Amino acid sequence: MTDRAEIFEVGPRDGLQNEPGTIPTSDKVALVDLLSGVGFRRIEVGSFVNPKRVPQMADSAEVFARMTRAPGVSYAALVPNLRGLEAARAAEVDEIAIFASASEGFSRANIGASVADSLARYGEVAAAAREAGVPVRGYVSCVAVCPYDGATPPDAVAHVAQALSEMGCYEVSLGETLGRATPEAVRDMLAAVTARVAPERLAGHFHDTSGQALANIEVSVAAGLRVFDAAAGGLGGCPFAPGAAGNVATGKVRERLEAMGFETGLDAQALARAEAAARGLTGGRGAA
Ligand code: HMG
Ligand code: MG
Repeated sequence: MTDRAEIFEVGPRDGLQNEPGTIPTSDKVALVDLLSGVGFRRIEVGSFVNPKRVPQMADSAEVFARMTRAPGVSYAALVPNLRGLEAARAAEVDEIAIFASASEGFSRANIGASVADSLARYGEVAAAAREAGVPVRGYVSCVAVCPYDGATPPDAVAHVAQALSEMGCYEVSLGETLGRATPEAVRDMLAAVTARVAPERLAGHFHDTSGQALANIEVSVAAGLRVFDAAAGGLGGCPFAPGAAGNVATGKVRERLEAMGFETGLDAQALARAEAAARGLTGGRGAA
């Protein structure tokens, strides 16, 4: 029997959040609808954050209202606080993601709080989501290097991943936010994290600034991970991580995982159409 690996599509959120020009809501809806036909089980559609900080995500509620939900697909959104959770529930998201950092510098730049304060805040969000029956995924950013603090100690990543897991995140996605980590650094980080959180409850989230994302995915597979985030067309970056390129492109991850013998369940032609549409939204800036 072929082993399965899953790609979690984050293009509509992580791919588009850093785009400088306003992308019409109808184009975002069209992209989500194309992605819904590719075979993903989970798609991250948007975020409910301060719109002054991430203007491109200000219309997330409208995207949720106008997109066509495919049966069996869980549509997710980022939520930074209780207010975001309320907005996400009103938009009828299927699951939320809370997002912490393993490094202090990025935590303050991204969400205006220390790591410890953010974990306390997220504990409240996770508890409220649990009460409301909304599944919660967690992110740890800067798992190898931080644009403000430099190299991240693996133990710091393990600490935050464990905290998110213990507050109820069904899965913790390890964000290589800058896309500059070497496979050796990723291997060391994963050794520390998997000692505290089982690999079945982890995902890899690799940006691809220095072209190492696929090598980092291979290292992660060797450590037991089977879920990888990717963005159609390789779009993206984070407004608070200067110099970071997009997420590794979904098509590239699919090809590599299938070459490694995994089944992804994704339709290559439908994915190619969605990737072309995604690149079209950003003036072709995404990676192939
Ligand atoms: P703050 O800016 O620190 O200050 O907010 P605040 O708490 O005083 O709030 C400021 C303003 O935000 C106020 O409005 C609030 O009402 C409003 P004002 O008085 O200025 O008009 N506000 C909200 N508005 C809408 N929805 C909300 C909300 N909450 C407050 N939920 C906060 C703290 C976390 C909200 C803010 O810093 C923020 O929104 N940050 C955005 C962070 C973000 O979206 N970053 C990008 C995603 S993370 C990422 O890309 C990494 C990842 O991909 C993994 C990886 O690659 O590593 C996930
Ligand atoms: Mg990211």
